[in-house]
Amino acid sequence: MRILSGIKPSGTIHIGNYLGMIKPMVDSQQRGQLFCFIANMHGLTTLFNAKEMKDYTNEAILDLLALGIDPERSVFWVQSDVPEVAELTWYLNNVTPVGLLERCHAYKDALAKGIPANNGLFSYPVLMAADILAYQSDYVPVGKDQKQHLEVTRDIALKFNAAYGEAFTIPEAEIIEELAVVPGIDGQKMSKSYGNTIEIFGEEKAIRKKIMSIITDPTPVEAPKDPEASIIFALYRLFATKEQTRAMAERFRAGGLGYGAAKKELFELLWSRFAPHRERREQLCRNDDFIRDVRRKGADKARAIATMTMDRVRQLVGVT
Ligand code: ADP
Ligand code: TRP
Repeated sequence: MRILSGIKPSGTIHIGNYLGMIKPMVDSQQRGQLFCFIANMHGLTTLFNAKEMKDYTNEAILDLLALGIDPERSVFWVQSDVPEVAELTWYLNNVTPVGLLERCHAYKDALAKGIPANNGLFSYPVLMAADILAYQSDYVPVGKDQKQHLEVTRDIALKFNAAYGEAFTIPEAEIIEELAVVPGIDGQKMSKSYGNTIEIFGEEKAIRKKIMSIITDPTPVEAPKDPEASIIFALYRLFATKEQTRAMAERFRAGGLGYGAAKKELFELLWSRFAPHRERREQLCRNDDFIRDVRRKGADKARAIATMTMDRVRQLVGVT
């Protein structure tokens, strides 16, 4: 069973990315063969600065290795190191109806945010389909926001197989429902674009400051509080054990727990939760040779699979 997951290198990762994407990816190494890549070519749709692109990619490699991607057990690479996906994108473009792409929420949302509508952004789901299909992936764990892109991928794969002959495994989306949306410090969905994130590998002071600025209501310290209405509790329960969660809920309801004190506990919980990963990341930062080696070996393994797919696809479309 091959599980494929991609993550865009878009700067600093936050706990929403971690719970929504990275943790399920790391955990999936226990139940199948994980193919995990840094989607830098997808990043190019909205990032136009070479230095930032390189830095973000390198940061993402460090982040994922530090958070538990095991390059021995899994295939871990950088998307652009296997340029076959760009070629496959072209073949897939020609079986992709424009209407299918026009209906994609992510594209419509980007337009609504005023992001310029370049063709890369528009055909983003076709590149995503190429990522998935080049490696004959069986399962693709994604957050709800990516569900539609998976449906597009399946459509494209079925269309290609019907038009030319069997070339692709039809992938299944695994929607990560359980944790749904991680709230940011303002209660909206945590997202870089809302500036409401809590970073995983940030400086202690900065992270503490973020957590201390979580929005709360004016209920006084002594008064009972509804845990279900609190962003602090919503975040706390995502990382706490069942017992810790139950105890925290009781303390909210009992009164006497101020929001400031609850925020401090949330900070402590998060800071200690990621301590081993911070240490691992610091070690990796000092080991350029190891990182270079991981990147090269990963690309070789991924490319071997993509090459097999492409040999067949080229024959089927008649470009050999
Ligand atoms: P951002 O919104 O910060 O730009 P991205 O859109 O790059 O984050 O998201 C990368 C991955 O992280 C996606 O798979 C998405 O499902 C997941 N993700 C991002 N924010 C959250 C969140 N608040 N809750 C759950 N998952 C999230
Ligand atoms: N579009 C995904 C995101 O924004 C990243 C991605 C690119 C991806 N290619 C993929 C995810 C293939 C899963 C499979 O998060």
